[in-house]
Amino acid sequence: MNFHILTLFPEMIEQGLNTSILGKAMQNGFVTLDAINIRDYTADKHKKVDDYPYGGGAGMVMQAQPIYDAWKAVVESIGHRPRCIYLTPQGRTFNQDMAKEFAKEEDLIFLCGHYEGVDERVLEEIVTDFVSIGDYVLTGGELPAMVMVDAISRMVPGVLTNAESGTGETFEGSLLEYPQYSRPVEWNGKRVPDVLLSGDHKKVEAWRHAQSVLRTLEHRPDLLDEAELSLADVKQILAILQEK
Ligand code: ADE
Repeated sequence: MNFHILTLFPEMIEQGLNTSILGKAMQNGFVTLDAINIRDYTADKHKKVDDYPYGGGAGMVMQAQPIYDAWKAVVESIGHRPRCIYLTPQGRTFNQDMAKEFAKEEDLIFLCGHYEGVDERVLEEIVTDFVSIGDYVLTGGELPAMVMVDAISRMVPGVLTNAESGTGETFEGSLLEYPQYSRPVEWNGKRVPDVLLSGDHKKVEAWRHAQSVLRTLEHRPDLLDEAELSLADVKQILAILQEK
């Protein structure tokens, strides 16, 4: 999986993504990251990449030429035209299903905008996907691109070890993850639930599933519209609720 990020702040992307699991994934060659400085492609002798908006108004607009030429350099170097994601609060809201979908691609280009926006003509020319990371406005597309690269990389085969596996976690089957505990058995007067010490795998699994459903009900009931629940799930949840 090769990420090509068109940005005015390549060092921000490089520094943000070269640690921990992602850093290891890059060292091991499961993902590559290429942060391309749009400014390197400007034809302007003063290295300018933005200008005033036609029609007036506040702020500056990123011009089409440097972005298009940076994009074209990527396309020519890899020999095909991959999906190109423009980070914008006007896009479709990013979620786990999209992360899995994008992880199937060989190459992805991200375009990080800044200032008041990007000349519409270059967006029409190169962008295949308009994506937002949530209903709030950030100062640029770099943080959203980093969020997406992180979430997508985790879904690339080989990036997570079995122990870190991306299955059975939050959002799998539209449920939040169950609570986790580690040593000691008692901390601050709180004990680990007995069922987790029982060694009975079936019971542990049933308890975890019920906790997932309960947690989703409490924190994100909107997700339950998509979740598949059995009669046994419902009975177990009712039992847990009665104990509370
Ligand atoms: N650029 C600015 N705000 C953004 C957001 N919420 N998501 C994606 N790109 C953005």
